[in-house]
Amino acid sequence: MWSGGHDGKAGTVTPMTTAILSSAIAHELRQPLAAISSDAGAALRWLSQDPPNIEEATRTLRRIQETSLRSDAVISAIRAMQRHDPALDDLLDVNWQIKEAVKAIEANLSQHQIALRLRLEPSLPHVRGRAIPLQQVVINLLMNAAQAVERRQTGGPGWIQVESGYAGGNTVAITVRDSGSGIAPEILPRIFDPYFTTRADGVGLGLALCRLIVEQHGGKIEAANSAGAGAEIRLLLPFLMPVTRQSSYLAA
Ligand SMILES: Nc1ncnc2c1ncn2[C@@H]1O[C@H](COP(=O)(O)OP(=O)(O)O)[C@@H](O)[C@H]1O
Ligand SMILES: [Mg+2]
Repeated sequence: MWSGGHDGKAGTVTPMTTAILSSAIAHELRQPLAAISSDAGAALRWLSQDPPNIEEATRTLRRIQETSLRSDAVISAIRAMQRHDPALDDLLDVNWQIKEAVKAIEANLSQHQIALRLRLEPSLPHVRGRAIPLQQVVINLLMNAAQAVERRQTGGPGWIQVESGYAGGNTVAITVRDSGSGIAPEILPRIFDPYFTTRADGVGLGLALCRLIVEQHGGKIEAANSAGAGAEIRLLLPFLMPVTRQSSYLAA
C-alpha cells in the first residue's frame, strides 16, 4: 500500500518555513561537500604518484569544478522555491533529469558496491518544472536507498533500480526501488514530515524537501515496501498533453 503525499492541487502544498528551507540548503550541500572532499583527496594522490598521473588528476579536478558549480545552482534553486513562479518553469525530459542525478552520486554508489539499474521508458512526454530541484529529489531518493541498502547487510550485493514510465492519466512516474531494510509500517506515514529521521546522523529533511518540490510540480510522492524486500518511493508528475493543431481556422 502506498503512503505519502497529498495531491498537488493548489492550496494543499506542504508548508515549509524559511527556517526549514535554510536547513534544507545545508542538508542538500552535505553530499556535494563530501564528494568534493573525497575527490580532492583522490586528486592529491594522483599528483603524488611518481610520475604524477596528470590525466587522472585533471579528470578529478574537473569533477570538483562541476560539483561546486552544481552546489551553487542548488542553493539558488532552493532559495527560488520560496517564491515559486510557474512562469519560469522549463520543459523537462524526465529521463535526462534522472541521468544527471545519477551522474552526481554514482561514484558514491560504486564505492559502496551498490549496483544501480536504470529502466527508463524512452518516449515519455516532457513535464513542466525546474531541472535542479527535480534532480535533487532523485539524488535524495538515491542517497536514502543507498543508506537503506547499507543498513540491511545481507550477504548478497545490494542494488537500486530507478524506473520511469507512464502511470495512467496525464502522469509519468519515477520510481526508486532498493534492496535495503524497507520501511517499518508504523513509520511509513511519517517519513515525509520535516525532521523525521530514524538515522543516527540523519536530519530528516530529505523527504520533506522532496515532497515540497514534487508538490510545486503539481505532483505527489508516495512510499511503500516492495513485495520482496526493500522500499520503493514513487513520484507522480503531470505531463503536458501534446499540442494538437485543431484550432478552428486550421480545421476550416
Ligand atoms: N529507501 C528507504 N528505505 C528505508 N527507509 C527509508 C528510505 N528512505 C527513507 N527512509 C526512512 O525515512 C526517514 C526520513 O528520510 P529523510 O527525510 O531522507 O531523512 P534522513 O535521510 O536524514 O533520515 C529515514 O530516516 C528512514 O527511516
Ligand atoms: Mg535522507
